[in-house]
Amino acid sequence: MTRTLQIAIALFCVATSPVLSQFTNLPEVPPGIFTASTRIEIQSTAAAAWDALTNFPAYANWNPFVRAAIVVDPTNLTLPSQYPVENRRLYLRTQAPPLPLPVSSSTPDNILHTQVAYENITHVQPQLGRLAWRFAAPDELLDAERWQAVSDIGDGKVLYESREVFSGALAEVLKEGMGKALQEAFEAQGKGLKLLLEGGK
Ligand SMILES: *[C@@H]1O[C@H](CO)[C@@H](O)[C@H](O)[C@H]1NC(C)=O
Ligand SMILES: *[C@@H]1O[C@H](CO)[C@@H](O)[C@H](O)[C@H]1NC(C)=O
Repeated sequence: MTRTLQIAIALFCVATSPVLSQFTNLPEVPPGIFTASTRIEIQSTAAAAWDALTNFPAYANWNPFVRAAIVVDPTNLTLPSQYPVENRRLYLRTQAPPLPLPVSSSTPDNILHTQVAYENITHVQPQLGRLAWRFAAPDELLDAERWQAVSDIGDGKVLYESREVFSGALAEVLKEGMGKALQEAFEAQGKGLKLLLEGGK
């Protein structure tokens, strides 16, 4: 390889890596009191990552943060179809701080770190690889929409991103009590997804 070509390749790498590090498939949203987020590259495809994220019944097999995500009706009855649909209600049982990886469906919850919440599925966008659900407490005490996005980024890799901006009068209290645990949980879900999709390699 000629020296000129080597320099050209080096310059190309320097020029392109910041572009990838700034690329995001998450929508811009107003800032809140605090944010939990993650981004991780996985050797896989956006299609496979999308299938994993929308397969709620299988979450317990790999997800150290969201241990149960169940699509329910307004009376909390489990709906026959568990595929996410906008405006449907989602019952979540989560672990923050997250469970240690790896997890399986038989990994027990840590009851001290268990939260339950009802969310509203707000965006199911397979073409864009984006999925979101929102928690809203009455009187705007707390409002938080959790976005997840998957994007093919070349080289047989997918970028998984997730971000939740918390706002409202209670967000400051939540930040103090749970901010660090939530951030760990977001990162752990990214690592769990990577283990699931790259497993065996
Ligand atoms: C709501 O449904 C979930 C999932 O089936 C269940 O685990 C939870 O106990 C139910 N909550 C109430 C209050 O019935
Ligand atoms: C759920 O979110 C959608 C989109 O933001 C909104 O139109 C709808 O009113 C919400 N439903 C509930 C029950 O909050």
